[in-house]
Amino acid sequence: MPTRILVVGGGGREHALAWKLGAEPGVNEIVAAPGSDAIAAEPRVRRVAGLNPLDPAAVVAIARERAAELVVIGPEAPLAAGVADALVDAGIAVFGPTAAAARIESSKAFCHDVAEAAGVPMARSATFASAGPAIAHAREEASRSGSGVVVKADGLAAGKGVAVCNDGDAAAAAIETLFRAGAGPLVIEERLRGPEASVIAICDGQRAIALPAARDHKRLLDGDAGPNTGGMGAYSPLPDLTNEDVDRIVATIHRPILAEMARRGTPFRGFLYAGLILTERGLYLLECNARLGDPEAQVILPRLASPLGPLLLAAARGRLPDDDADTAAQRLPVLPNASLGIVLAAAGYPEAPRRGDAITGLGEASAAGALVFHAGTKRTDGGGLETDGGRVLTVVGRGHDLAAARDVAEQAADLISWTGMQHRHDIGATLQAPVGAGR
Ligand code: AMP
Ligand code: GLY
Repeated sequence: MPTRILVVGGGGREHALAWKLGAEPGVNEIVAAPGSDAIAAEPRVRRVAGLNPLDPAAVVAIARERAAELVVIGPEAPLAAGVADALVDAGIAVFGPTAAAARIESSKAFCHDVAEAAGVPMARSATFASAGPAIAHAREEASRSGSGVVVKADGLAAGKGVAVCNDGDAAAAAIETLFRAGAGPLVIEERLRGPEASVIAICDGQRAIALPAARDHKRLLDGDAGPNTGGMGAYSPLPDLTNEDVDRIVATIHRPILAEMARRGTPFRGFLYAGLILTERGLYLLECNARLGDPEAQVILPRLASPLGPLLLAAARGRLPDDDADTAAQRLPVLPNASLGIVLAAAGYPEAPRRGDAITGLGEASAAGALVFHAGTKRTDGGGLETDGGRVLTVVGRGHDLAAARDVAEQAADLISWTGMQHRHDIGATLQAPVGAGR
């Protein structure tokens, strides 16, 4: 059991991780680097504010200085920057993939390649290095499918490099905008339709243990309108995805991908996030991430009924319990409840979030029973809090079912305010009709 854990990152997902790990038996200290003012206020958390999470040598130095027995890397950028590689080289247990393994997220073309070799279905796709051929292909794809086309930056874009387009003209405009913004190669995909699900597993390079499934809401506005964002709200469990469905997803998606990554000499240790879409033709993988989702982590972690630290340490050492005998035994114990999170975002998010707006109502929201995870807040000299990022807070309600959880989250969102605060009012409001995974 790890007693001192270094959590790298400082957003809402890392707040949830520090909150969960810091409350586990045997844990003496969580070091949050760079953390945030709000993370530092959690019990047993100590903050190293000045740390640059993209500097592998600096992370190794902090891990050594604080004698961390386990390092958990939250965001994708430090993974892509090779922070896990440096920790592995230094002999420090790290839960989070090497840069080579994190390519499953940092290059969408690479993810398609791995999925194809692993026999995992994804949307039809092609990659382009220049606008002309990309536009011609997107027009062709849009007219072939009749349901639009999706344009994606190949590399990391914090969920904002994706344009879901209704027709070829919209795709052409998106392609030009992305190339002009220097997005690099673009992936053009067939547009799939159906409810989405995030199934995230704890992986040790070979074995996988699923966390409860969650559903993110990626568009900015109610009714799934507006631009894609990093995520505007989430809930767990999913009424249209049973535990058996999740087992089948791990068996047919996570494990084949782990096997293919190991075969390539880049085994994946960390949270493997499968972004899925449940279409009428069956289940498709939309994307892989090399980490927990944000805001999915904020609704999943409060549902876990057992400590996470020992499992992450075992996975970091490549020693999760064997899973081929009985898949059901590989599910984590989960509380018999539901949780639902609403993201409160700054004025101007996602294009140009405004900072420095004074936040009120946090105490009232907590008193109403919500968990409040901070992503972009800062303590002012006067002791108040102000906005300091695009996604500012995630308020999470818990209850005996999703409707009860939603009531708490909605109430908390109504109690908090700042100038220009944006949030969706329909997270979990139209719970999807069952589709049945794996068909
Ligand atoms: P990604 O970063 O690849 O997951 O894309 C972000 C979001 O864009 C997904 O969660 C979907 O809502 C949407 N999206 C991505 N690819 C597709 C696709 N091929 N068809 C329909 N929607 C998609
Ligand atoms: N919420 C989606 C993500 O973290 O990528």
